[in-house]
Amino acid sequence: MHHFNYVGPNLHCESVDLVEIARLYGTPTYVYSAATMADNYTRLAKGMVGLDLQICYAMKANSNIALLRHFSNLGAGFDLVSGGEIKRVLAAGANVKRSVFAGIGKTEAEIQLALENEIFSFHVESEPELARINHVAGKLGVKAPIAIRVNPDVDAHTHAKITTGKSDNKFGIPLKHAAAAYEAAAKYPNIQIKGVQMHIGSQLTSVNPFVEAVRKITPFVEQLKAAYGITYFSIGGGMGIVYKDALASGQQSWWDAQPADQRPLTPETYGAALVPLLQPLGLKIVLEHGRFMVGNSGVLVSKVEHLKRGAGKNFLIVDAAMNDLVRPAMYESYHEIVPLHRDSSRRALTADVVGPICESGDCFAKDRQLQEVGEGEYIAFMSAGAYGYTMASRYNTRAMAAEVLVHGGTFELINARETFEQQIAGEKIPAFLK
Ligand SMILES: Cc1ncc(COP(=O)(O)O)c(C=O)c1O
Repeated sequence: MHHFNYVGPNLHCESVDLVEIARLYGTPTYVYSAATMADNYTRLAKGMVGLDLQICYAMKANSNIALLRHFSNLGAGFDLVSGGEIKRVLAAGANVKRSVFAGIGKTEAEIQLALENEIFSFHVESEPELARINHVAGKLGVKAPIAIRVNPDVDAHTHAKITTGKSDNKFGIPLKHAAAAYEAAAKYPNIQIKGVQMHIGSQLTSVNPFVEAVRKITPFVEQLKAAYGITYFSIGGGMGIVYKDALASGQQSWWDAQPADQRPLTPETYGAALVPLLQPLGLKIVLEHGRFMVGNSGVLVSKVEHLKRGAGKNFLIVDAAMNDLVRPAMYESYHEIVPLHRDSSRRALTADVVGPICESGDCFAKDRQLQEVGEGEYIAFMSAGAYGYTMASRYNTRAMAAEVLVHGGTFELINARETFEQQIAGEKIPAFLK
């Protein structure tokens, strides 16, 4: 569920008319609902009640420091993947001590920064990485807390580019080699074995792969607890969200109408299936959800530039492009597209919704049925809160979009649109070309 709904003819985020934001800050602009994020966090925590739980929001999904502060205020730590993300947590005034550091290529400088800020744990993906962490910890005279990422070889049944728990993915250490990796870790003088971790993929729409992975790895987790006294088990993130019926899924009635066997994954279903498996372990359980926390909390608002009517096809050309929201171009993913002003007297339009970038791949939707919208009118791409702004680029020298956070009837700009001067600030003409 979420807080994007029509109030009369106009699409609102909480109590704010999105047209007001579009007019004030221009477009393309990401707009986020603080209430939806808080609801997502609370529902997830409630769904897992009975566990000693630590939610580490996967900030790669959306790392704006305002959102980090919001999640931190709710009690979250962070799943982070770079020195830059550590610095963002600090800039948000949030807590690195409740955060875990993932990623297969952590540099010495990043490891040092994490240790200096007393990271909760490193999620280690290889033996050379273990050696590097041990080396940096030794230089600093500390012991580095670690968990090894175990690859359970489970099919997450998601897009190939976001599946991570199969044996042919680059992530983690295969279950059959994990015991040896822990034995090696135990021999390093500057390593403290603290836990175990897995993450099987993103946008999972069924709880079954999570259950399969937890069941598969549980005997090993029990062995680690007995052998090394581990205190936590991170089961990663990956809970999927609704993309196809995104607007309707804001209402409880939509969820109630879904047949039980086709109901998208909810935190309640997730918790009901996993808590009974995890509780007997007697460990702290870490969750690393990103998309679930913010995906349906944000939309990308864009303006129509032209409606180009072709012989066999119409093109709705908008001012957002693949550089702002790359998911459709990269993963062929679906985002529902709705007008900010709904008008039932308008004709229907079937069109490809495209951006202005010089690539055929700059296409958000093919042959999409929409209400007819004309130049200067606004549309919203739903479910754009996760992997939207964080995956954006400046391709075609387009500015990074603005970001706005709504809270009830108020809103604030949390990231100003980038200027051209900011974009080229680090560039210069070398002397030999002058
Ligand atoms: C290790 C790890 N944890 C958590 C996540 C978050 O996944 P999601 O946003 O699907 O919850 C990712 C995503 O790539 C990941 O690699």
